Amino acid sequence: MKRIGILTTGGDCSGLNTVIQRLYRGATLRGWRVIGILDGTDGLCETPPRVIEFNNETLPIECARLAGSFLHNGRAGALNFETAAETGRLSHFHKQLRKSLLELKLDAVVLIGGNGSLSLAWCNREIYSGLQLICIPKTIDMDIPLTDKTIGFNTAVQQLTSFCDQLMLTARSHHRWFVTQTMGRDCGQLALNAGIAIGATAILIPEIKFDVNSLIEHIKNSPRDYGIILVSEGISLRGHSGRPADMISRKLTAAGIENRTAYPEHTQRVGDTTAADRILAARMADCALRAIENNETYVMTAINNCVCETVSLADFFNTGDINTDPNIPDLKTSDAYVSPDDPLLEIATNMGIYIGETK
Ligand code: F6P
Repeated sequence: MKRIGILTTGGDCSGLNTVIQRLYRGATLRGWRVIGILDGTDGLCETPPRVIEFNNETLPIECARLAGSFLHNGRAGALNFETAAETGRLSHFHKQLRKSLLELKLDAVVLIGGNGSLSLAWCNREIYSGLQLICIPKTIDMDIPLTDKTIGFNTAVQQLTSFCDQLMLTARSHHRWFVTQTMGRDCGQLALNAGIAIGATAILIPEIKFDVNSLIEHIKNSPRDYGIILVSEGISLRGHSGRPADMISRKLTAAGIENRTAYPEHTQRVGDTTAADRILAARMADCALRAIENNETYVMTAINNCVCETVSLADFFNTGDINTDPNIPDLKTSDAYVSPDDPLLEIATNMGIYIGETK
């Protein structure tokens, strides 16, 4: 009988609980025991490690659609890879994690995490030696290489779409524009996808340079006198500081365009998990369990060309352009962002959406 540990790390998103529930169900059907590690790596830093053992009562199927994580994602500022690296306590942190994993007598760890967590897991992989480490990619940012989908993204696009659909009604009533700021860090996928869904007037993303005067002209030439300018949080405007939506809003106001700003913030992460994200969660959980059965380790589940398979963490880490944060040597992110030939860019342009200076 195998003992598997599950942990959720990094920011929360919808779909985490679905993965946890599906992992639990598939594992128990195989006769395995499932241990939930609380608060990501924080839970492993304590003696004894903070864990729960799941059963049908603690993990009811009807709750699997809820956003957030039953296992929690950790407190800001707690000891984790980033804070340990910043404060020179990495070696102590390593020892503590290793000790806890051995104490829990786990055969496999399923880590559900984003770009940062997966990179850190790979860079600190000796912690998991002798165990199987299987990662499942989740993030609303869609910035993970080697997979076409990440858990939580579809629900985030839906949340943002619903938020903007409502704004559009008040925008129309008052003949004005809303500058709405999306999450996504340095990746424009969330803004791009939601922008197409709502029929935004403009979508500004970090990957594409834009020109404020062209944007203003585009809005002034619009067949409507209301609409939404979707601004990804990662954009910047030379010579300006502050929140991107505020910067753009000020420019529009100065050009005589009546507008307001709107910030959906963390509501983007907490939608009732969409059917698409639940199906993705089930596929990735199933893939992770099969990987454990096949004695795989240091792999990530991934969807490519509609097939769910594992890819090696080494390949994940080495793919794309690597940006290294000088403060955290191990934290590398691969550049899996909106590529210049993403078909949605051309569609946006063909639909009259200002997307920046693509030519
Ligand atoms: O990476 C997910 C994400 O939601 C980003 O889109 C956003 O910039 C960030 O996390 C917000 O982090 P926090 O929860 O710490 O405010």
